[in-house]
Amino acid sequence: MRPLRVGMIGIGTVGSGTFRVLARNQAEIAGRAGRGIEVVMVAARNLSRAAGIVGDGVPLTDDPMHVATHPDVDVLVEVAGGTGPARDWVLAAIAHGKHVVTANKALLAEHGAEIFAAARQHGVAVAYEGAVAVSIPIVKALREGLTANRIEWVAGIINGTTNFILSKMRDEDLDFAVALAEAQALGYAEADPAFDIEGVDAAHKLTLLAANAFGSPVRFADVQVEGITALQGVDVACAEQLGYRIKLLGIARRRDEGVELRVQPALVPAAHLMAHVNGSMNAVMVKGDASGVTMYYGAGAGSEQTASAVIADLVDVARLDGTHAAQRVPHLGFHAHAMSELPV
Ligand code: HSE
Repeated sequence: MRPLRVGMIGIGTVGSGTFRVLARNQAEIAGRAGRGIEVVMVAARNLSRAAGIVGDGVPLTDDPMHVATHPDVDVLVEVAGGTGPARDWVLAAIAHGKHVVTANKALLAEHGAEIFAAARQHGVAVAYEGAVAVSIPIVKALREGLTANRIEWVAGIINGTTNFILSKMRDEDLDFAVALAEAQALGYAEADPAFDIEGVDAAHKLTLLAANAFGSPVRFADVQVEGITALQGVDVACAEQLGYRIKLLGIARRRDEGVELRVQPALVPAAHLMAHVNGSMNAVMVKGDASGVTMYYGAGAGSEQTASAVIADLVDVARLDGTHAAQRVPHLGFHAHAMSELPV
């Protein structure tokens, strides 16, 4: 079978990691996918920097729309971030019959309803494992492993940057601003770190988790959001003395009247497993009516950590035979039946 041809928009932290892991693990990935996965073109803002990452063999352009609509591209990998232009590229790719793999949680949290409807209409897949808790396969866990369950709640530490900051404040008595600067230097933070520290990034991810868990519509605006900007070292120290750790939690809970969605700093008992999720690590707990509580742990940010999830989605797409694609890589839109049953 011919290789799956990938067009990539963005070759920053996530894009470069994806390119590197695809090249390094080429044989294993092709073996698992049943065919090769080849990056055939890349759109980047800085072409000379991009050339340094992808080498001579891959055509470069500074026009993302060229990649999104090019006939040689089977699947668009959108890892540029942002919402406005990214929405246009993704919708254009879908309209041209291409599958989409993205790690862009802001894009899907804000425009997911439109994007998934377009994907359904054109029979293509939109996959986004890298958008939530990067290396943890939580989207696959919800849609596959836990699919028999009525989910009661999902709760987790789903932003690596804020968990890193809180851990540094507690363990090293580091100042908030210094810890944030360190997280930025390590490539954990969003381009605008306000998204991390104000809880918006976690709210984007919670929106996607909830849509998967409850079959509810993608409604970012319904999340009550409080970040960690008001927290000081003294708060972290006091919590510690009382036997708690402060963690920024995203919580989605099924209620009679709908789904409650909250992101907020919370006091977690020091003995609880969640209290031991430190640094940029993430953890998600899910309570299903049949499974009981399950817990997932792994890197919450990072270049190759996100690439791991992006490539897992590419392998899913590569396994499609080209027909009825959207039925075989389900996405949020596939919960359409459940939407009317659950008032949010
Ligand atoms: N800024 C995000 C975080 C990156 O810190 O979790 C991964 O989504």
